[in-house]
Amino acid sequence: MRRLFFMAALLAATVLPGCQAQEAPATPSALDVIMTRTSIRSFTGDPVSKEQLETILKAGMAAPTAMNGQPWRFVVVTDKDKIAEVFAAGPRSGMFTTAGAVIVVCGETTAMRKPFGQPDAAEVEMPNMFWYEDCSAAAENILLAAHALGLGAVWTAGYPAQERIAPIAAALGIPEKVVPLCIIPVGIPAENPEPKDKWKPENIHWEQW
Ligand SMILES: Cc1cc2nc3c(=O)[nH]c(=O)nc-3n(C[C@H](O)[C@H](O)[C@H](O)COP(=O)(O)O)c2cc1C
Repeated sequence: MRRLFFMAALLAATVLPGCQAQEAPATPSALDVIMTRTSIRSFTGDPVSKEQLETILKAGMAAPTAMNGQPWRFVVVTDKDKIAEVFAAGPRSGMFTTAGAVIVVCGETTAMRKPFGQPDAAEVEMPNMFWYEDCSAAAENILLAAHALGLGAVWTAGYPAQERIAPIAAALGIPEKVVPLCIIPVGIPAENPEPKDKWKPENIHWEQW
């Protein structure tokens, strides 16, 4: 139901402004987007526009990153045949073959920026022990941005499962020092699952464990 309300608000925010005399509900807030996102594993097969993909990737690159290192790299595949060839080997291949695009979120394990933390710091080659955390933050932003645009997406595991990432890295020509963290199919949702309620107050320890 929460997701349904979100989709209605999203539709109203994007379609209704052109219609006079209708009072459009407010644009979904950042908290609405966060609380209604859920993994989508079935898509209509329709394409996702380059503009939408760039918006999603911009959100990915807006993530926090240790010392402003920005070690994330993205491989975006939109060609249907290539998606089927590279990603559809596993048992749940439907989520790839019906997606409009697949984003492989990768970490450049040897890239930092110096002087550390400066907005215009130059990229230098040195080990980046935070690539995994930075790229995870980018991946979450990607999932949220896709949802905010009315699209669906799901994080599927890459690193550290070598058997998953080796064939993908080889097929996409990803260099050795760049590690595929996760593989995210993005598309027009063909399912509308309820977000899972993960609120568990017992997981919080106020002031002291
Ligand atoms: C590190 C990580 C690995 C995941 N790997 C997979 C995967 O390989 N296949 C898949 O269908 N979902 C995968 N997921 C999605 C989770 O199954 C999903 O986020 C979880 O069940 C919670 O559901 P929600 O995203 O709808 O809240 C992964 C999520 C994370 C964070």
